[in-house]
Amino acid sequence: MTTIPVALTANGYQIRVERGILSQAGEEIAAVTKARRAALISDSQVGPLYASKVKESLEKAGFTVHTVNFPAGEANKTDATLHMLYDVLLSWGMTRGDAVVALGGGVVGDTAGYAAATLFRGMDCIQIPTSLMAQVDSSVGGKTGVDLPQGKNLLGAFHQPRAVLVDPECLDTLPQREIRGGLAEVVKYGLLSDESILDHLEQAQQPDYGFLLPACLSIKARLVVEDERDTGERRLLNFGHTLGHGYEAAGGYTACTHGEAVAAGMVDMLKIEEAQGLIGPELRLRVEALLEKLGLPTHMDCGREALSAALGRDKKNQGKAMHPVYVTAPGKAYVASMSREELLALWEKTR
Ligand SMILES: NC(=O)c1ccc[n+]([C@@H]2O[C@H](COP(=O)([O-])OP(=O)(O)OC[C@H]3O[C@@H](n4cnc5c(N)ncnc54)[C@H](O)[C@@H]3O)[C@@H](O)[C@H]2O)c1
Ligand SMILES: [Zn+2]
Repeated sequence: MTTIPVALTANGYQIRVERGILSQAGEEIAAVTKARRAALISDSQVGPLYASKVKESLEKAGFTVHTVNFPAGEANKTDATLHMLYDVLLSWGMTRGDAVVALGGGVVGDTAGYAAATLFRGMDCIQIPTSLMAQVDSSVGGKTGVDLPQGKNLLGAFHQPRAVLVDPECLDTLPQREIRGGLAEVVKYGLLSDESILDHLEQAQQPDYGFLLPACLSIKARLVVEDERDTGERRLLNFGHTLGHGYEAAGGYTACTHGEAVAAGMVDMLKIEEAQGLIGPELRLRVEALLEKLGLPTHMDCGREALSAALGRDKKNQGKAMHPVYVTAPGKAYVASMSREELLALWEKTR
């Protein structure tokens, strides 16, 4: 068992990483909450695969368990799903002293986490992430929420989980495209803070998640502790995401996955840094070779107008200032500030 503390002063908790931990979820959860009734929330893809294992373990540990699966996919990360969850939790007679267990990818984690943050002014929530993206990123740090028709993640709250249980075994059933998307985030962590992640991905035949998950989670935990509310250091996690979000939005969220957009976004940020004379081509060439090895794109077709409109719609475009993250060497990263026009001009220079 690998344990990574998220040492927040008020709401600290542990991330527990272990193959097979799903079957020990009951005792793990009993140790971090006074609740003895649990709402086990999952989606239509993950629920049928893993919910019974978690339910059985919870029941063995003395919990009364109710389960609900909502239809899988980002399209269901909505207030309609949220209200359905409120309805079923209330119909089960849940109270503030009961707990929510979120079992799934980032969509389940964000939606169920937000239900837990808001119903009865806050219930205990335990995150059991099953996608690579959720296992290295979204399950940790307490950001919860759903999308609105006007934009992604517009409705939300900070609500730290009581624990995060990570079972690498779940990745055996994750579709390859989702694995690749998660690996784009893993590369990002390597660039931000830990070159050994890059070395491993470059050298290994197959990714060793026993090494990669704790390595990424330690970085995430550190950034969350330094900056729980995401106004400073935590924004480094946005490396590749300013342009990446732009590519995703410009493609109507259907042309590519988030991870694919981030992969191209990281390469394009490195190209911008090259054009500004901040770095030579070596780092970009290294990242391009690694992304290609992992089956990720290093380029997105996107016109200036489409990107400009998409950047304008991004909620992170507070006022007109953009905050793209610069990485000048593995482990050397900072948050920059520039106008949307400046960023677009730099971007255009590198196309
Ligand atoms: N809260 C945060 O800090 C944070 C950070 C990053 C991303 N996010 C959010 O996370 C979401 C993306 O998360 P995601 O990439 O996990 O998407 P997702 O939850 O839609 O999962 C992707 C697909 O894989 C399926 N799946 C998940 N685990 C599986 C498994 N073990 N076996 C088989 N299928 C499995 C899901 O059912 C889904 O169809 C976005 O909504 C994003 O906004 C949140
Ligand atoms: Zn991301």
